[in-house]
Amino acid sequence: MLKLSLLSLAASGLIAGAALAQDGTDLVQKGAYVARLGDCMACHTAPGGKPYAGGLPIKSDLGTIYATNITPDPDAGIGKYSEADFARALRKGVLPDGSHLYPAMPYPSYAKLSDADVHALYAYLMQAVAPVSTPAPETRLGFPFNQRWGMMFWNTAFGDAVGFAPDPDLTAEENRGKYIVEGAGHCGSCHTPRGIAMQEKAYDGDSAAYLSGGELNGWDVPALRADGSSGAGIAGWSTAEIADYLGKGRNDRAAVGGEMTAVVQHSTGHMSNADLNAVAAYLKTLSPAPAPWTPKPDSAARATTAKLTAATDLSTGARLYIDSCGACHFVNGKGAKDIFPQLDGASVVNADSPTGLIHTILAGAQTPSVERAPSVNLMPGFAARMDDKEVAELASFLRGAWTNDAGAVTADQVAKVRAGLDKAP
Ligand code: HEC
Ligand code: HEC
Ligand code: HEC
Repeated sequence: MLKLSLLSLAASGLIAGAALAQDGTDLVQKGAYVARLGDCMACHTAPGGKPYAGGLPIKSDLGTIYATNITPDPDAGIGKYSEADFARALRKGVLPDGSHLYPAMPYPSYAKLSDADVHALYAYLMQAVAPVSTPAPETRLGFPFNQRWGMMFWNTAFGDAVGFAPDPDLTAEENRGKYIVEGAGHCGSCHTPRGIAMQEKAYDGDSAAYLSGGELNGWDVPALRADGSSGAGIAGWSTAEIADYLGKGRNDRAAVGGEMTAVVQHSTGHMSNADLNAVAAYLKTLSPAPAPWTPKPDSAARATTAKLTAATDLSTGARLYIDSCGACHFVNGKGAKDIFPQLDGASVVNADSPTGLIHTILAGAQTPSVERAPSVNLMPGFAARMDDKEVAELASFLRGAWTNDAGAVTADQVAKVRAGLDKAP
């Protein structure tokens, strides 16, 4: 008798964690994984705050928007939301009272989440997240953006929520990657350019604008497709290198920096190997041809190394490199595997836009610590030690050193990135 009633309770989903998702995995565990894919934590948890209690201020062109409390607290959080209410907020940006969310919440991407994933996510948030009764700060934008109904027109014009459509020309694995990238992963929210009303110019791989490079706090976010014209880019990376970058925050060619560090730390670093491979396989389909960028010949690399080794008649940029960078990245620009990334051939060094390189020199960077790669490798920032002109000389040197082949950098470009550093949240 007892056994039977427990079983039926479990079947009706009343015992937390006991219900099974359609594919047989534990529903709450599956929901926790979907929350990782969707990186809900990144915005809905303030630094040092309780998980999912909201409060993170997100700077936008409209003003500061606060992420809300999505714990199951009935008053401060979403405890009163039915699954249908939750699904509508998540995929359409519409709350139970009919008001509209600002697109700082990436619902146009989440519109692509499957019913099964939304179901699991709901179970996870309601059953496994601790309720927090502190309300998140209220978003108060200036007129006319404080008129939430106005977002209805935004939705009609730009954010029209479209469900996921698998591409019949792709393999099952590539379509799984497409589902993650376009949907939960909302990779386009940073990697796709935005239009006049902050809308992403495309929400799926059918459009050439999709993942062709975006902009974030003065950092030109690299394109994830060969025709995105971002210099070296990832078009030349193997599937395994892309998977490593996303799963460990580092690979033989690069180490993650800027806002992407948090994405790896909280989201992609927790993806299963199968999903990492699927994402990498899908990204490869966007770059059927390698990027138009070609490295200079090896003889150029040897010439730079010889010049730095001899250390005579150095340009200002080369001298700054020896003084401040060479100890870790070495005179041959090859760094040390898995510790100091190579600067010779690096995509951040050769990107069309030097903002990522300038940002790294000014602010430094540190690798995320994830299960697959727990060590944190730190690069100090040089904002206090170098002026705009020096950073420009150094960056220009790097973009022409070894096999690197990219344009020179001006002090004005450095000044702009420096100004943006103070504004970043
Ligand atoms: C890039 C930042 C960002 C990410 C990532 C994000 N959200 Fe949000 N979310 C927001 C912001 C900002 C709001 C409030 C928007 C507003 O006030 O109009 C919000 C609002 C919501 C709401 C409405 C709650 C309410 O009653 O106000 C729900 C539900 C929600 N998010 C769930 C999620 C889930 C689940 C995920 C992960 C799959 C997620 N969000 C990921 C930024 C984000
Ligand atoms: C103490 C060692 C150290 C010094 C000194 C150092 N770096 Fe780094 N650098 C690192 C580490 C570690 C990383 C990886 C951190 C990350 O990007 O997550 C890194 C990353 C980078 C990256 C990003 C590489 C990529 O693949 O995205 C660039 C560019 C860079 N450094 C340039 C420089 C320059 C230019 C200097 C001199 C001004 C310098 N570094 C000085 C250790 C150092
Ligand atoms: C919050 C903004 C943001 C989101 C969301 C985001 N990225 Fe990024 N991504 C960046 C930034 C900024 C960089 C540049 C980092 C650097 O150069 O060190 C980057 C770099 C990358 C790179 C390396 C590109 C290169 O040329 O070096 C890959 C690959 C990548 N992202 C994949 C993804 C995938 C896949 C997703 C979705 C699961 C994603 N990103 C979501 C901001 C973001």
